[in-house]
Amino acid sequence: MKSLPMRIAKWSLLALAVVAVLGLAIAPFSRSLIEQWSRSDVVARSRLVYNSIQYPVVRAIADGQLNRLDSIFEGVALDERILAVGLCNDAGELVKPTRLMPKTFSCEKVARSESESFSSIINDGRRILVGAFPIVERNHRDYLIVLHDLSFIDARSGEVQAFVVAALVAITVVIAGIAAIFVVLMLRGWMRSLRFAVEEARSGGQTSAAPRAKTLVDNQIQKLLHDIEIDRMPISTGQVDWSPKALQELLHNLLPGAEVLILSNREPYIHNRESTGIAVQTPASGLVSALEPVIRACGGTWIAHGSGNADRETVDADDRIAVPPDEPAYTLRRVWITDEEQDGYYYGLANEGLWPLCHIAFVRPQFREADWQAYEAINERFAEAVAQEARTEDPIVLVQDYHFALAPRLIRQRLPKATIITFWHIPWPNAETFGICPWKEKIIDGLLGSTILGFHTQFHCNNFFETVDRFVESRIDREHATVTVGGHETMVRPYPISIEWPPKALAGQPSVEACHVEVRRSLGLPADVKLAVGIERFDYTKGVLDRMRAVDTLLTREPQWKEKFVFLQVAAPTRSKLATYQSLQSEAVALADEINARHGSATWRPVELIIRHHESAEVFKLFRAADICIVSSLHDGMNLVAKEFVSSRDDEAGVLVLSSFTGASRELSEALIVNPYDAEDMASAVGIALRMPDQEQRERMRLMRQQVRESNVYRWAGRMLIDAARSRQRRHILDIAEQNQRQDFEGA
Ligand code: G6P
Repeated sequence: MKSLPMRIAKWSLLALAVVAVLGLAIAPFSRSLIEQWSRSDVVARSRLVYNSIQYPVVRAIADGQLNRLDSIFEGVALDERILAVGLCNDAGELVKPTRLMPKTFSCEKVARSESESFSSIINDGRRILVGAFPIVERNHRDYLIVLHDLSFIDARSGEVQAFVVAALVAITVVIAGIAAIFVVLMLRGWMRSLRFAVEEARSGGQTSAAPRAKTLVDNQIQKLLHDIEIDRMPISTGQVDWSPKALQELLHNLLPGAEVLILSNREPYIHNRESTGIAVQTPASGLVSALEPVIRACGGTWIAHGSGNADRETVDADDRIAVPPDEPAYTLRRVWITDEEQDGYYYGLANEGLWPLCHIAFVRPQFREADWQAYEAINERFAEAVAQEARTEDPIVLVQDYHFALAPRLIRQRLPKATIITFWHIPWPNAETFGICPWKEKIIDGLLGSTILGFHTQFHCNNFFETVDRFVESRIDREHATVTVGGHETMVRPYPISIEWPPKALAGQPSVEACHVEVRRSLGLPADVKLAVGIERFDYTKGVLDRMRAVDTLLTREPQWKEKFVFLQVAAPTRSKLATYQSLQSEAVALADEINARHGSATWRPVELIIRHHESAEVFKLFRAADICIVSSLHDGMNLVAKEFVSSRDDEAGVLVLSSFTGASRELSEALIVNPYDAEDMASAVGIALRMPDQEQRERMRLMRQQVRESNVYRWAGRMLIDAARSRQRRHILDIAEQNQRQDFEGA
């Protein structure tokens, strides 16, 4: 793109070049013109001389008194242009030459014609015009000779050439001067326009600067920004076969040399001291199972809370450890939190405040000032850890979840050039609900320190826009899905999270038939019993009690399933310090006992409840052994258990019963979608699942597997990194524009 001042400068240079060429062309032409003019002038003078002295000369010759010619000729020769005068007589002799008559002059050189003639001779390097005018007296034909020195012509044409050059130089200087003034004026206007445009782009159009002049220059800047705007539109990532390699290539090509840092509360590997020594545990966390394959592919540093009782023993002096333990691929940097801080930041604000606030599970959020202060302090600590770990000034920082709502802004203060991608793994409520949080403005402001803010669904993005609109002075651009506050723009986009494909936990699994047999044997169940499983953290949002009630309803409605069907609930203890979680556990135990008492027998219990953490290999074995998987969350951002179940079934059998209040239900529409609040509905779904023909199971499972395979976690990360790369590109262009603007003002 060429700016207007550049064009003006270009045309001015062109004009100067044309003037110079014209000057060179005119110079020789002017010389011959002056030569002609001067020569005709000299000829006219000679004639004049001849005419004025013709009579006295004729008289002197007629009288034979040639001496009279001396005074006549000397008088004429006084003229500064006339070099000499003389007479060539009939015999060809030179008579009465004046004083300056060249010695070499001879009458033989004069053409003897009947009329006047002019010729040139060279004497002492000077050009001389010889005019010969016939004077006829009696039978004599003499010639009056008038010699003109033509060297003045050279001097005159030199002067004229000098004048032409001077005139051209003057014209050149004037043109250049006018062009320079014009360029400076235009450049000032251009810079002003650029500043407005940059400010407008920064503030998303909210600039309070004076209205911008609609100049050509503006149009050019707008075009540049428009090109980038087009680039901000989502691109189709559907054609890419997403894998760790594809993600690595994307990083390498779009973000070469970029440093990746992850920030989350939960760490991917927990070291605990047990009776047998130190054991490594992978936590039950959808966040961890999604992000771990991503950082394994990209490399980098994962900063998280060191929560295991042997975590301190296993890190180096800088609190770092290379993981995964069996095949190190990235660094885990542990940050320490005291029990008291943990009570405020994690149990208090995060899990008694924000967790129930964001999930519609009808558990009242608790907000305590002390918890908020701990939350602020821990966010500061982790932001500081990010700054310590960063080796570059512009790393890509992936901030995870509701534990770190303030961290994006705090990281931005420490690393202004960082690309901060924040992902909110849980739902975002509507503005009215969020409005009950006493620190809502601070939480929103913290999140808006991000470059990109991701949610699982468009619905949650819309809730976020509404919340921002309601509580923060900002500019929301729904077309580009951005929020701008204080000149900083944040993209707000849906990125449905997923799992790795193929899942690591599937490697080394026995066949589905073997899992079927082994699991039933280990649970003491008959080989042909139909098995439904529910596997997750023991959280009140998961609808564990509701699915038990659905089993109860089913067995009441369809008693033929007695002895032939078992529901296995595997629940990993979580946040057990909190009263709501403790009471959920005891309620679940009581409800299982109640249902077993109502429907069970001495040899059969319809509900098996196992409360302990299972490693992913165990979880996958249960999935493969099951006929049905029940995911009945009351509210869930995505729910990766549903996707893991699908990924575990390479035999394409098994039925998924899935709550409509999970993000996953938007993608896995071939599941039996249920309302977990409606026990009758869920019981019917479980009944349908128990009776579902193999063929139908296969068709549904095949489609769901295709969906999870294509929209896997590498795609999730890849889409965010593509948007991050564009944001960096846009940032880079705005920086250049700003730098130019600064240089202009410094130079002005
Ligand atoms: C949810 C949250 C995660 C959290 C996980 C386990 O999936 O979104 O951030 O890690 O639950 O919870 P916990 O409190 O044990 O980390």
